[in-house]
Amino acid sequence: MSGHDHEPRIAELLGRMTVDEKLGQLQQLAWAWDTGPGGGDTAAAEAAARKGLLGSVLNVVGAEASNALQRIAVEESRLGIPLVFGLDVIHGYHTTFPIPLAQAAAFDPAVTAVDAEVSAREARSNGIHWTFSPMMDVTREPRWGRIAESIGEDPYLTSAYAVAKVRGYQGEDLTAPDRIAACAKHFVAYGGAEGGRDYNTVDVSEQRLRNLYLPPFKAAVEAGAATVMAAFNTVSGVPAHANTHALTGILKQEWDFDGVVVSDWTGVQELIAHGVAADEAEAARRSLTAGVDMEMVSTTFVDHGRDLLASGALTEERLDDAVARVLRLKLRLGLFERPYVEESAALTAPSAEARAAAREAAGRCMVLLKNDGDTLPLDAAALRSLAVIGPFADSGDLLGTWTLPGAPEAVPVLTGLREALPDTVISHVEGASAEGTDTSGFAAAVAAAEAADAVVLVVGEPPALSGEAAVRGELGLPGVQEQLAEAVAATGTPCVVVLVGGRPLTIGGWAQRVPAVVMAWHPGIEAGPAVADVLTGAVVPGGKLPVTFPRSVGQIPLYYNHERTGRPYDPAAPEVKYVSRYLDLADGPEFCFGHGLSYTTFALGEPRLSREQLAAGDLEAGATVEVTVAVRNTGDRTADEVVQLYVQDPAASIAQPVRRLRGFTRVRLAAGEEREVRFTLGAEDLGFWTNDTAGTFVVEPGEIHLHTGTSSRTRSRRTLLIT
Ligand code: GLC
Repeated sequence: MSGHDHEPRIAELLGRMTVDEKLGQLQQLAWAWDTGPGGGDTAAAEAAARKGLLGSVLNVVGAEASNALQRIAVEESRLGIPLVFGLDVIHGYHTTFPIPLAQAAAFDPAVTAVDAEVSAREARSNGIHWTFSPMMDVTREPRWGRIAESIGEDPYLTSAYAVAKVRGYQGEDLTAPDRIAACAKHFVAYGGAEGGRDYNTVDVSEQRLRNLYLPPFKAAVEAGAATVMAAFNTVSGVPAHANTHALTGILKQEWDFDGVVVSDWTGVQELIAHGVAADEAEAARRSLTAGVDMEMVSTTFVDHGRDLLASGALTEERLDDAVARVLRLKLRLGLFERPYVEESAALTAPSAEARAAAREAAGRCMVLLKNDGDTLPLDAAALRSLAVIGPFADSGDLLGTWTLPGAPEAVPVLTGLREALPDTVISHVEGASAEGTDTSGFAAAVAAAEAADAVVLVVGEPPALSGEAAVRGELGLPGVQEQLAEAVAATGTPCVVVLVGGRPLTIGGWAQRVPAVVMAWHPGIEAGPAVADVLTGAVVPGGKLPVTFPRSVGQIPLYYNHERTGRPYDPAAPEVKYVSRYLDLADGPEFCFGHGLSYTTFALGEPRLSREQLAAGDLEAGATVEVTVAVRNTGDRTADEVVQLYVQDPAASIAQPVRRLRGFTRVRLAAGEEREVRFTLGAEDLGFWTNDTAGTFVVEPGEIHLHTGTSSRTRSRRTLLIT
């Protein structure tokens, strides 16, 4: 964080605050979306602010509303401590970027940094100081609707994105008028919910907690994340909101985190429902003493704090620590010096530059899943007629989950294609709705396909089936879209499918009967132009899957970084019976982690190591090993490739994943161009955390296999010996 020393001022303020004023700083109340100043339940916020008994408000929309409420706190309360305003600016404020899972597919953290910078500029100008983002919950659960907000199944990729987004939001100076405080969420292991059911139980070993779920948060805290949000789930029987080991032991003591831990919505009060608090006073005690500093929406801290202090259940020291963290956040944001926002400078709509950035981002996020016979890119010169079919062909509902009220809708795919192919006769038929059962539109769709040179079929999952509490038990296309795809494919007209959605989908059936499929995710405000850029080849797809696409829901959880078993399935010996596989399902995923095709081809050379062996002690002292890989564009057009480096410890004290991503670089190469890509590996890349709850990281002697490739199905391996 900024080097400025705010501690003297914090101490001075604490010395003047009453107990009620201290407890008030730990309270965050919600503003009602649909009412401005003084409306709805916002009266509660205004009354508390006026008494100096409120620390923060979330969901205030607009510079005018923000200033009006701030003026009450600053000019009417006894101490005039400013409020801090939070909002879920997850992937855009006015300018909605692709959903985070899409951004992950770019394998390029710069994409998320641009989202963060544009979002921060738009949000701060409207009086928002703090976003509840980035979400960095690693997850292997495509049934879980919030996978859309995640960076997927890999902790290394998620860590890189977490750092980029924190820095993109916060910059070097949180007082700047175009920066906002970040929030690393949801602490911790929320993505491990059993059955993919939101809020469900998470029971996790210490080693999995530290090797899979915690790394992104550690990276975010080291990058200076100003705040952390507790998760709704239990962590091995103890709800995250009452988990002293995670919140205080690891986050605040091991990692020295001096920012604010905010509850998630009524997560404090929900300790009662979890069955770990008999009443609200107990919930407040457990949560505050475990390490939650600010309570969102529920009011147990304010309601019971005085009694908890009086009984000694809550210490003055812990109370002052929590208040100090809140004051520190406000001082870092410069709110005491500049509590108000310049209303005339508020950004009220996406700028052309912001739209262009969102369009470029969307193009970089798309993944070419298949492209038989080089069906793509569409040849604009030869394409006389095109049928654009499907429920999402002319839809603006492509922003994805967690978009803000008033954010402009997406430009439809049909619009994008019409702009990109002005000389092509383009017909449009919806064919079917996103979720309905009516097939009466199929005939018109088939007729349009039969009459055209090619078809673009835009199908998938609506944003309403994605996001918080949007858990699906099946991952196929909703409604009758699969039947529509089959009917259109059966015409024999070359059909390109643009797949939209917020999660991996099972597409094995119909997708075998179409030559090309592009995963466009929920691509945001410039969806249409970005899809057209990719389909016409103006942008060559270079994205890779940040999550495994299973063949069937029955395979879940299915992920690339799995441990070996004592009886692994070996495709070379399918007759062997006693192995770990399904009798009724082909082995392996539909598409693996890191998969993504291009309109050209690439060749990788054999990896070279800067050294073949290395002492564990030297590694722990900071020594590194360099891995160099040559990559060449063997095709005829400029394009991107993502060179990936995975490590594997084949014999360790704890069973290790068969692959762990430890390096990725997206490079752009002209036809025929060759370049060397370098990765540097240190102790943190080669070792792992053990089951020691006190936190023990080890680099063990023995072989480490280094795998390189353009997906998790790597093709080359070198061995490093650690002595
Ligand atoms: C929600 C989400 C959390 C969000 C918060 C405030 O329940 O779990 O991610 O930031 O409430 O809207």
